[in-house]
Amino acid sequence: MENRTEVTEFILLGLTSDPGLQLPLFLMFLLIYTITLVGNLGIILLIVLDSRLHTPMYFFLGNLSLVDFGYSSAVTHMVMGGLLLGNEVISYNSCAAQMFFITAFVTAENYLLTSMAYDRYAAVCKPLHYTTTMTTNMCAYLVITCYVCGFLNASIYTGNIFSLSFCLSNVVHHFFCDIPAVMALSCSDRHVSELVPIYAATFNIFLLS
Ligand SMILES: *[C@@H]1O[C@H](CO)[C@@H](O)[C@H](O)[C@H]1NC(C)=O
Repeated sequence: MENRTEVTEFILLGLTSDPGLQLPLFLMFLLIYTITLVGNLGIILLIVLDSRLHTPMYFFLGNLSLVDFGYSSAVTHMVMGGLLLGNEVISYNSCAAQMFFITAFVTAENYLLTSMAYDRYAAVCKPLHYTTTMTTNMCAYLVITCYVCGFLNASIYTGNIFSLSFCLSNVVHHFFCDIPAVMALSCSDRHVSELVPIYAATFNIFLLS
């Protein structure tokens, strides 16, 4: 048995330790976050309420707003808390959850943008077949695939990182639980963990093509 203590919580160093900068930065983040929130939720509301916008393109745009909203919420609430309270202590599970959701939303966004590109390609290059290609089923299928891939990618990455053991330090040199920042703290053999992204990326390339 090795004599080491497991980390149960992480400390996020945040953006700055200068107390004079914390309040202005907090207000700036609050402003940006409010604009993001109002913008994205406004777009979703508009698309749901206006029946003229019930077309594939706006369906994808609405989902893009939803993912953007989730992503910025997952990052910002932690950053703002850190700015207000100084160094932010985050439990092991919250750190894993934050990493999971951020990765899931970012990946879903990548796939959504790909689906949107496909939708426009069909509209511009195959206009006569557009209504038969982009059916309701096809749109639902594409969007569901985006979310499934997002959560799959997030499970792979987060599971991979949190299967490592952390014993050196629990100070994350970042303002949220990002993958490279947390991985740098691990004292396990990282050889296998560093290969996982390569396999995941290969899988993604095949899926996209
Ligand atoms: C999967 O997640 C990782 C880590 O966040 C990210 O770097 C990668 O781009 C994601 N894959 C896709 C296809 O978005």
